[in-house]
Amino acid sequence: MAGRLAGKVAIITGAGSGIGRAGAELFAQEGAAIVAADARESAARETAAAVTAAGGRAIAVGTDVSKSAEVQAMAAACLEAFGKVDILWANAGVLQRAPHSFAYLEDLPEEEWDRVLSINLTGVFLSCKYVIPHLKRQRSGAIVITASVSGLQGHAVGMASYVASKAGVVNLTRLLSNELGPFNVRVNAVAPGSVETPLAKGLSAPPPGLNFPKYYEAPTGVTRQATAMEVARTALHLAADDTGPLTGAIVPLDGGRTAK
Ligand SMILES: NC(=O)c1ccc[n+]([C@@H]2O[C@H](COP(=O)([O-])OP(=O)(O)OC[C@H]3O[C@@H](n4cnc5c(N)ncnc54)[C@H](O)[C@@H]3O)[C@@H](O)[C@H]2O)c1
Repeated sequence: MAGRLAGKVAIITGAGSGIGRAGAELFAQEGAAIVAADARESAARETAAAVTAAGGRAIAVGTDVSKSAEVQAMAAACLEAFGKVDILWANAGVLQRAPHSFAYLEDLPEEEWDRVLSINLTGVFLSCKYVIPHLKRQRSGAIVITASVSGLQGHAVGMASYVASKAGVVNLTRLLSNELGPFNVRVNAVAPGSVETPLAKGLSAPPPGLNFPKYYEAPTGVTRQATAMEVARTALHLAADDTGPLTGAIVPLDGGRTAK
């Protein structure tokens, strides 16, 4: 299949929904074989089925990115199915769960902090840890990380664990671009504002007294919410080799919010 990712093999985490599913479909259209990984294995299977129904190549793996053994199994499944890996899109992520979707830091249970950090930050660490040796060995590849504007700004009051986790992956992206540059491996992040996905829809209203700004209340023009496919197209740009030495970049897709 011709395309910007012709001949490539891409692992996408959180591929069972939203941004990750759009990414699996787009990357496959561009010629990549896809490993659709998601903690919800049935959702990963749906994504892989959609890719193959459209003429692409995909396998599904049930992978909780916060569990080392499962991430190692994900990398092994990719190697077994397709013989190599070229692209990792570490995309899986979660918000704080109700009733703590918005909570002052002192009211956030330690377990909830640990859960969000273990998926959004440690999950990215583990995904990179078990894919990087293969990229280094072949001396080529690209890693894309899904960050957030919440990792660049401190506006998202009530979401301490999410904000901290996304800030962590932003600087991890920069560090990794330096570690892996000599091995011809590029590392970039996309930092969306608000995206039309189940994750964004699942956000309950903040409790009264928490000053959580509604950025997209009156969206016009490019300040509107992004679609999942628009995030996927941005990630494609970061993953494709035709962008040359593009590495260490955090690309906001946020209607200009972080430009203010
Ligand atoms: N939607 C937004 O407004 C928005 C904005 C900025 C950043 N993001 C980020 O984009 C990424 C994708 O989010 P989305 O909006 O597509 O959400 P989504 O909820 O639609 O999809 C996330 C997927 O990740 C999976 N997942 C959850 N925990 C997992 C785990 N431990 N291991 C593996 N998979 C797991 C879920 O099952 C789900 O299929 C996340 O990292 C999120 O933080 C989203």
